[in-house]
Amino acid sequence: MPDGQTRVLVLNGPNLGRLGSREPEIYGSATLAEIAAACAELGATLGLKVDLRQTDDEAELIGWVHEAIELRLPIVLNPAAFTHYSYALRDALAMRTAPLVEVHLSNPAAREAFRHASVVSAVADGTIAGFGARSYELALRAVAGLLTR
Ligand code: DQA
Repeated sequence: MPDGQTRVLVLNGPNLGRLGSREPEIYGSATLAEIAAACAELGATLGLKVDLRQTDDEAELIGWVHEAIELRLPIVLNPAAFTHYSYALRDALAMRTAPLVEVHLSNPAAREAFRHASVVSAVADGTIAGFGARSYELALRAVAGLLTR
């Protein structure tokens, strides 16, 4: 089990700051603040310090990925729409040496065709999608498992 001091970045891309009111029939009713609180609580039981952030800005998100790479921090990432087209984000993630778990609230494979491709999946350890806010919980458990492997 991680030592309680291991920081994990839980990074969220565009429009995820609107969770709670954003298409709740697709993304659920939990706000990102509620998801952050649940992640912090679970993280504590897994020995992980959760640092959850959200941005609508591709450059800022890539900056956070660079920070994680420098510090060798594991990442849980919901790239939101960047999932489907951001080669710049994908190239940044390809430099990682610590665990990376891609996460989605909805199941993009069951939605519009443009959501079926992820440019991130191939550089991640794995992807968790379709379980609503619980996807984040499952992703944190996956990170904890990868860190103790
Ligand atoms: C999402 C799925 C993406 O297709 C979409 O653009 C999002 C959210 C999800 O969590 O289900 O913004 O990543």
